[in-house]
Amino acid sequence: MATITVLSQKGGTGKTTTVRTLADVFRRIGLRVLAVDLDPQGNLSDYLDVDPDATPTIGEVLTGRALVAEAIHDGVIPANLGLAEAELVLAGKIGRELTLKRALDQIADGYELILIDCPPALGLLTVNALVASDFALLSAEAQYFALQGVEQALEVIGLARDSLNPGLRLLGVLLNIADMRTRHSRDAFDSLREHYGEQLLDQTIRSSIAYAESAERAVSILDYRPDLAADYVNVADELLRRLDMPDARSRLSALVQT
Ligand SMILES: Nc1ncnc2c1ncn2[C@@H]1O[C@H](COP(=O)(O)OP(=O)(O)O)[C@@H](O)[C@H]1O
Ligand SMILES: [Mg+2]
Repeated sequence: MATITVLSQKGGTGKTTTVRTLADVFRRIGLRVLAVDLDPQGNLSDYLDVDPDATPTIGEVLTGRALVAEAIHDGVIPANLGLAEAELVLAGKIGRELTLKRALDQIADGYELILIDCPPALGLLTVNALVASDFALLSAEAQYFALQGVEQALEVIGLARDSLNPGLRLLGVLLNIADMRTRHSRDAFDSLREHYGEQLLDQTIRSSIAYAESAERAVSILDYRPDLAADYVNVADELLRRLDMPDARSRLSALVQT
């Protein structure tokens, strides 16, 4: 059982799409996956087609108004704007960084993977996610300043590890929304490789309008454009190797063939 937080220092780097698509890939190979939306914008909840009126949500769990088990709706703990208010309430409480961990510990037994989607900021919610996780996966946008964003996110991971979660490990850095035909995407890849070596995943996620289209239609990219989705299947393969889950990895090859 592993809990993985997907984070980046800002929005628009493909975090939510990564959580959504990886959750989908892992479920298709039979893993029991819980997806946790920790962004008040609720994009992951939308992508995964959770009823917008579903209650309770993660906000009620973090403020102690609901049990975590009640907040799971079809394998998703959704978020909505109420989470912004919950974050403020949480900020005034003792043990505020440990709240998500304490909640997820109660239900972790039912899952093989828990994937947490973070808001586009390195604040209290992202710290809660990191404290609750075994691994952090960094999503880096293929831009000139990719390195700077990764550096800031790594600092926060370091803080979480030093203070509250010594077992936290970096699962990898993913170069997302990349167009490797362009010089700047290749430069971003090269500079990340130079600085982070093998921590940078070999597979990058290609940039395509098909991601926005599939989100709009509430169709998984695995069905909408399997050719593009191969990027995520390869990322899943690299992650399962790093997670030391060989059985799941072998089932992944069957998924590719279908
Ligand atoms: N590989 C991709 N290529 C092009 N657009 C993408 C890709 N992945 C995601 N997007 C789009 O980029 C926008 C931001 O993605 P999202 O996953 O919501 O990022 P974040 O959660 O980091 O803010 C969305 O409109 C999404 O559909
Ligand atoms: Mg997002």
